Amino acid sequence: MAYEFSRVSNRIFRSEIREILKWTRKPGVISFGGGLPDAELFPIQDIIKITRDVLEKKGYLALQYGPTPGEDEFQEALIAHMAQFGDVASKEQVCVTSSSQQGLDLLSLLFLDEGSPIIVELPSYLGGLQAFRRCGAEMHGIPMDDAGMDVDRAEKVLDELDRDGKKPRFIYAIPDFQNPSGITMSLERRKRLIRIAQQREIPLLEDSPYRELSFTGDLLPSLWTLSGGEGVLQLRTFSKILFPGMRMGWIVADELFIKKIVLLKQSVDLCTPSFTQLILAEYIKRGRMSQSIEKAIERYRPKLEAMLSALEKYMPQGVKWSRPTGGMFLWLTLPERIDTKEIFMTAIEHNVAYVIGRPFHCDLSCGNTMRLNYSFPAVQQIETGIRQLSETIKEVL
Ligand SMILES: Cc1ncc(COP(=O)(O)O)c(C=O)c1O
Repeated sequence: MAYEFSRVSNRIFRSEIREILKWTRKPGVISFGGGLPDAELFPIQDIIKITRDVLEKKGYLALQYGPTPGEDEFQEALIAHMAQFGDVASKEQVCVTSSSQQGLDLLSLLFLDEGSPIIVELPSYLGGLQAFRRCGAEMHGIPMDDAGMDVDRAEKVLDELDRDGKKPRFIYAIPDFQNPSGITMSLERRKRLIRIAQQREIPLLEDSPYRELSFTGDLLPSLWTLSGGEGVLQLRTFSKILFPGMRMGWIVADELFIKKIVLLKQSVDLCTPSFTQLILAEYIKRGRMSQSIEKAIERYRPKLEAMLSALEKYMPQGVKWSRPTGGMFLWLTLPERIDTKEIFMTAIEHNVAYVIGRPFHCDLSCGNTMRLNYSFPAVQQIETGIRQLSETIKEVL
């Protein structure tokens, strides 16, 4: 073809994971694959009612263009929502986005040039890595343990980069119930990471879609709060705590960053739909959001417990897994000689699917890992699915 495409578009490939996930639709397969919320939680009747009310009372606003940083009413509702989870922000520190993926896009536009060094966790969120890769970022991965990113290692890598005259444009972290590992960064690590980032004047991107989904009630202060708002840009979304269909999210950051983000957003989509903002503002104001979150926690907690006890019961020696206390995912590490991509079709023959772990690593390491999602399958399917997965692993062992 004689058409010429941009360098950016040529950097985007069809993801290996998407190819694999089509097998999850095979009849009879129990899928721990996608990252979907349980659709039975969607408050359809409430949304019908609120949509009607919004159109009747504020249709003139809902169907109009709106301000780029967001509708006043929605920003106020967001601030009230955040306060329930320990975070304080002013309206000037908030910009509404069409979900977190747009937040990642905007922050990539804000910070990245071709070849810009950045720090990410190993493993990290695939959509984040894709957004950064698209901009040509040079990614440096920092391994994680049960307490989150290995901050000592991060410091070493930063020193090495410094010696080469390179300063990372940002550090990207998912501190609460991480996707894909389910791990939560400890308080001590959070504080050290902030100290390191502030000392070196490197922005810290805190991506936290699962923050509200704590099954134990314990919630550590966010990087945003611990930093006093200095140098941290926090990404939030309703995709996981309510539903992803309205694509509603927001960025919290110092006004200096927000002003630039707003200008970039104008060039991307002018504004997030006022219609959906007003519906969700009303949903929050009526106290429904807190109820939705409680229901999600009540639904997901037994699913996680079912998965953990089935793993304990069925997995052979040499298989290790994370023990999350919230979120939607759990991370499995098999003996090193097993590649989870190579055994994927054997798993499908055993009627179970998962997501292979390698693509979550910016350096494509750790082929012996996989991500398991427990929010979507029914609780009764979880034990059967894990038994089938353990049979697959025993067969290849
Ligand atoms: C860590 C993380 N960030 C961002 C997103 C994007 O979410 P959304 O664009 O639906 O808000 C996800 C979705 O899975 C995620 O896990």
